[in-house]
Order: sequence, then C-alpha cells, then structure tokens
Amino acid sequence: MTQTARRPISLTGIKPTGIPHLGNYVGAIRPAIALVDQYDAYYFIADYHALTTVRDPDLMDEYTRSVAATWLACGLDPERAVFYRQSDIPETFELAWVFSCMTAKGMMNRAHAYKAAVDRNRETGERDLDAGISMGLFNYPVLMAADIVVMEADVVPVGRDQIQHVEYARDIAERFNQAYGARHALTVPRHVVDESADAHTMPGLDGRKMSKSYDNTIPLFAPAPELKKLLKKLTTDSTPLEAPKDPETSSLYAMYCQFATEAQCADLRARMLAGGIGWGHIKDELFQVLDAHLAGPRQRYADLMADRDGLDAILAAGAERARARAREVLGNVRGAIGIEM
Ligand code: TRP
Repeated sequence: MTQTARRPISLTGIKPTGIPHLGNYVGAIRPAIALVDQYDAYYFIADYHALTTVRDPDLMDEYTRSVAATWLACGLDPERAVFYRQSDIPETFELAWVFSCMTAKGMMNRAHAYKAAVDRNRETGERDLDAGISMGLFNYPVLMAADIVVMEADVVPVGRDQIQHVEYARDIAERFNQAYGARHALTVPRHVVDESADAHTMPGLDGRKMSKSYDNTIPLFAPAPELKKLLKKLTTDSTPLEAPKDPETSSLYAMYCQFATEAQCADLRARMLAGGIGWGHIKDELFQVLDAHLAGPRQRYADLMADRDGLDAILAAGAERARARAREVLGNVRGAIGIEM
C-alpha cells in the first residue's frame, strides 16, 4: 500500500472496563486528544478485549457507552479523529486469525499478562498452571496486533504496561512481511510512550496512583456535591494550619496542578511554603479548579449518555470510516495469502 501522501496514523484502543475516573483523564484521555493535531488519529473502544474480564452484558453496554461519551465530552472531535467500536470492524477479527497462524506459540507463552496469570496459579498452589486462563487472555496480543495493523497505524501511544503488546504487533507484522511482503507489505507500527507520562500521574484518594485496582478513584463526572465530598476524603498528614507545607510531597498539590493554570499553581505553592493555609482550605481550592474544568464536559457527558441513538450514530459513522481502511488492508492480506475476496 502506498505510504506517500498520507499523514502518519496514530491509533489507540481504550478498554471499557469501568466508569472513567480522574486518573484516566489526566493519564490517557487528555494526552491522546492533544495528539489529534499531529496525526490522523484512530481511537476505538476495545470492547472485545474487555470481554476477557467483563462478563455482565449490562455492564459491557454501560462501560462502552460511558467510555465513548467521556472521550467525546472531553473534546475528542469525531469529525477529525476516527472514533469507533472495535466490534464494528469485522476485518479485525479475520486478520487476527491470519495473524494467529503466523505467530509462534512460544512467543505468546512469554507475554507478560499470560505469564502473570500462570505465576498467580503457581503461587496459590494450583496443580493446573493454566487454570482459569481463557484463550481470549492468551490470544489478547494477537487481537491487539490486528487492531493496530488493520488500520495501518504508524504509532501507538500507550502506557508502559502496553509496550510489549506493541512490540508483538511489530514482530507479527514483520513476520507477515517476510513471508508475503514482496507482494503486499503491512505497515509496521511502533509504540510511543509519553515522556511526561509520570508527570501525568494522578494521585488517588489514598495518595497512591489513582487506579481502579486500588479502589481509590474519583469518577471523572461525579456531580459537584459528590466530587466535593470525595475530595474531603483525600488523605493528608497532620501538619497544623499555621505550619509550612511541602508541595513536593503533597498529592493535593499535584492534583491541583493538573488542572490549574501555571500561575495558580505557583501561587498555591508559595502560600503552602509560607504556611497559614490548612489542608481543608487547599481542598476547597482544588474543588474550585476541578469543578470549573469539569462542569462543561460533565454536562456534555450527561447529554450524550441520555441520547442513545445520537451516540450510536457517532460511533457508526466512525466505524464506516474505519472500515473503509480496514477493508482495503484485509483485501491486500487476502490477496497476499492466496484467498481472494
Ligand atoms: N490493551 C490495551 C489496554 O489494555 C487496549 C488496546 C486494545 C489497545 N487494542 C489496542 C491499545 C490497540 C493500543 C492499540 O489498555
């Protein structure tokens, strides 16, 4: 396929495994939306990847809609980015089979997520080390390779935990190209990890990184009174009101600076160092900047969630655009392997 005259494609998948929280926003949603200026962005809801863990159909539906509505509410423009649901692209699943025929099982045995599941079985004394491990979990990286390659993605912005998966996608695409590349070479992707990813870490209610698995999250679109209440729960030390406070070790301060302007952030810093400002007061200020930032998106989110057909139509339009590309890539793959459409 011709590589000239096209902007580089950036692609990423978002697994719908919960209602988005502030940590998702700061760590993934906001940086990915910022990339839409530089790339042809393909962003999708990885619902079939979520099926490895989400087994309740109502939750699958709710999380999928909630994640889609969140990205749109936060400013992802579906005219500029191609925004779709993985399950709307049947070509992905066909390519996943082709890829599984070119993937060494030994390589899959070494995948982090699978190995971690085996290790957990070993630690708990399971006799069958594969107990409770589905083929979906095992094949997860192959499906992810198909997601990426079917859209000819050049770069895949991911968190560090996903680097190995993108390397597998590279490896699989290269193997395909070695076998068939003379006729039809696939685009080989590479990962990009946001260098300032650590600066995009949002502390949770207990001061550790905000994460669903720590149960310390603040829902991104909690109504204002609930948001205020949750912020009150943030852990602080017992430094008295008059005493100076160290911004560097304060998760309240870190959170504040994710949403405040640089000037506001510098101002709070100076007041903390001077002393005379209490944690309760800082929490009030944090609530003010958060609420100012989130009030608009919160309302847009509510509107999108209330309009089922409207949200479906946006995702269907995205799928249409994504499939046009996927069809072409799959047509080439079928041609290459000798199974013409
Ligand atoms: N595995 C990714 C995660 O858990 C989600 C994902 C699925 C993805 N397909 C992808 C990410 C393709 C990037 C590219 O976060």
